[in-house]
Amino acid sequence: EKQGFKHFMLKEIHEQPGVVRASLEAYFNPGESTESPINLGLPADLYTDLEQIQIVACGTSWHAALIGKYLLEQLAGISTQVHYASEYRYAPSPVTANTLIIGVTQSGETADTLAALTMEKERRQGKEAKYQARLLGITNRPESSLGHLVPHIISTLAGIEIGVAATKTFTAQLMAFYALALDLAARRQTVSKDILEKIINGLRQIPKEIEATLETQERLTEQLAHEFAETQDFIFVGRGINFPIALEGALKLKEISYIHAEGYPAGEMKHGPIALLDAKVPVVAIAIPGSVYEKVISNAQEAKARDSRLIGVTPVNDGEAAEIFNDLLPVSHVEELLSPILTVVPLQLLAYHIAARRGLDVDQPRNLAKSVTVE
Ligand code: F6R
Repeated sequence: EKQGFKHFMLKEIHEQPGVVRASLEAYFNPGESTESPINLGLPADLYTDLEQIQIVACGTSWHAALIGKYLLEQLAGISTQVHYASEYRYAPSPVTANTLIIGVTQSGETADTLAALTMEKERRQGKEAKYQARLLGITNRPESSLGHLVPHIISTLAGIEIGVAATKTFTAQLMAFYALALDLAARRQTVSKDILEKIINGLRQIPKEIEATLETQERLTEQLAHEFAETQDFIFVGRGINFPIALEGALKLKEISYIHAEGYPAGEMKHGPIALLDAKVPVVAIAIPGSVYEKVISNAQEAKARDSRLIGVTPVNDGEAAEIFNDLLPVSHVEELLSPILTVVPLQLLAYHIAARRGLDVDQPRNLAKSVTVE
């Protein structure tokens, strides 16, 4: 069943190009619509006069939601907030009839996410019009409890994921958010047809870019894993659309290798965390040309000045980056907006190889379960 891979997690990392292809095929066709090149099978009134979006999720799904927020705000111009479901259920935001609430859960069974949505459903049943928010779920298991709880679902197309650490289901969630944000952008005309087409064409190139990344990274991350197998702390930094990838890289590492890791927005390092840095604490920086590239590079330089070893997730052939970083995990040149689907791959592999090197049970890490059905 592992098809020659040592662990399910590694197999699932390698399945990601196929997941992106399946998502492109399913979501990115116009169907009957002349308004949008995307078809998510959602009723039009879910989109009418939307004013704000509230997303609830946990763990890796929460990270996907943060990227979703970036896309929904920057492409579709809809103010979006992302909440930990375990927090939102006890302190919900004010909503209106023009609010869309999205629950994101791979398993469709996460207790806190279900409870946050149940609470919203109950608020809706009160007669007050102001609580009549619309509900949408994003899940890899439409037959799950989530599927029964909310009226509309976007099914993510990862196939069954066995490794406890979420990898391909995260990529599938990102694809759902690209489709949703671009669909809204097309219908609300917040992005021109040309730009829309350019982004969609870029997405169509992603599967082969992930394949290329997998090919080069497998060996590089394995080599780095030799050197970092005994490291005690890691810092991951990114900015903008790659800040959530820094969080995800840190989460992957801690959950399967049991190494302490933290993700930060790179600009926040100087407000405290920089005090942690020295030669024993490596810093992984995600630096993609675009709106914040120079900023990330200069934040990385600050870390280097504290003797941290710098690992760069950055495009190949970039002279400047190559000089600053001690080690490179190169990714292809892609639009910043699409880069998270690529930049997450070396971080998944790095976590995987470090955990495997430490001889740990990668697919079944201690204290964790695939579905967290308790509060
Ligand atoms: C991390 C991981 C967890 C889950 C979280 C939410 O690799 O697997 O953080 O992402 O428990 O799970 P779902 O998406 O099933 O609600």
